[in-house]
Amino acid sequence: MKIGLLTSGGDCQGLNAALRGVAKALYNEFGSNVTICGIRDGYRGLIEGDYHPMSPRDFSDILTLGGTILGTSRQSFKTMQTAEENDDTKLEKMLATCKRADFDCLVILGGNGTHKTANLLSEHGVNVVTLPKTIDNDLWGTQMTFGFQSAMDIAVQVIDSIHSTAFSHSRVFIVEVMGHKAGWLTLHAGIASGADVIIIPEIPYSAKSIASAIEKRNRSGKRFSIIAVAEGAISKEEAKMSKKEFKAARAEMQYPSISYRLADELKALTGQEIRVTIPGHFQRGGAPCPADRLLCTRLGVAAAGLIRDGKFGNMVAVQNDKIVPVPLKEVAGKLKTVPVDCALIQTARELGLSMGD
Ligand code: F6P
Repeated sequence: MKIGLLTSGGDCQGLNAALRGVAKALYNEFGSNVTICGIRDGYRGLIEGDYHPMSPRDFSDILTLGGTILGTSRQSFKTMQTAEENDDTKLEKMLATCKRADFDCLVILGGNGTHKTANLLSEHGVNVVTLPKTIDNDLWGTQMTFGFQSAMDIAVQVIDSIHSTAFSHSRVFIVEVMGHKAGWLTLHAGIASGADVIIIPEIPYSAKSIASAIEKRNRSGKRFSIIAVAEGAISKEEAKMSKKEFKAARAEMQYPSISYRLADELKALTGQEIRVTIPGHFQRGGAPCPADRLLCTRLGVAAAGLIRDGKFGNMVAVQNDKIVPVPLKEVAGKLKTVPVDCALIQTARELGLSMGD
């Protein structure tokens, strides 16, 4: 049995914990009858045939290690089947590597883009098992991706710390949270840290509405306000635009990110001092939180179980708190965004939080 392991796309906490889970369970099941090869830097290594045999020792002491011992890279799905002059496509090169290496199965850890390519490989006859990785939690087919809970912990720590300085200076703070085009991280971190306004891409915002939420707090004697803004937040005006118009408007935007634009809008509307904090990639770094360590271990062991049972073409997913296989073709290309009527948004509203709409 020969297995190729790769981690692809943006990194996150828990990748090594998940690799460890897969490897330990495979070694436990197959002993010396399994060879695990590490493919370097995600699909880049598969395209270029850059892989190396690993041993049980490589998977020791990595449960709490941040990043990925295999390295990762972003390889656009769009370019996978583009023929280059006098050269094979990336897909053809990956298929050739799988054949040459004689892999019985590829184990792929990744998010949305990664799953499109994983499905493509599966459609072309490669045995594939995947694990859902992303701090954004926006992968369809699973309640939870690994990395999400650790990134949430960090975003919460940031907002917790901002509270005291915001209070001292009676300032309005905007904290920009990652999450790409989904608001999971901002919604969860915002509620867990007691933010006063939560802005997510799924609920387009009105600066006037946010300003009136701030003024309402001022009138009730509150000395500061904290606004958790998802990096993918859009205004009500932008929500009405076509994709092309939106792209053009954002290309002309004079601000490095949406938070700075919102800060200027709110300053003009409220006359208050506004500060912006952007933790950025800090949210993806460091050790996985205990909840992610558990999730990664469960997912890794379940992935090894799928290999043992020959159930290829699946992602291991969390559904109703159980780990279940979900066919890759059902996952690939679908984004899981926050339903605007979900219980957590209802909770936020009933708490008196503003969702900026
Ligand atoms: O998908 C994870 C993520 O951190 C997003 O939240 C963010 O939009 C993006 O990756 C940043 O990508 P990069 O690491 O390539 O700058």
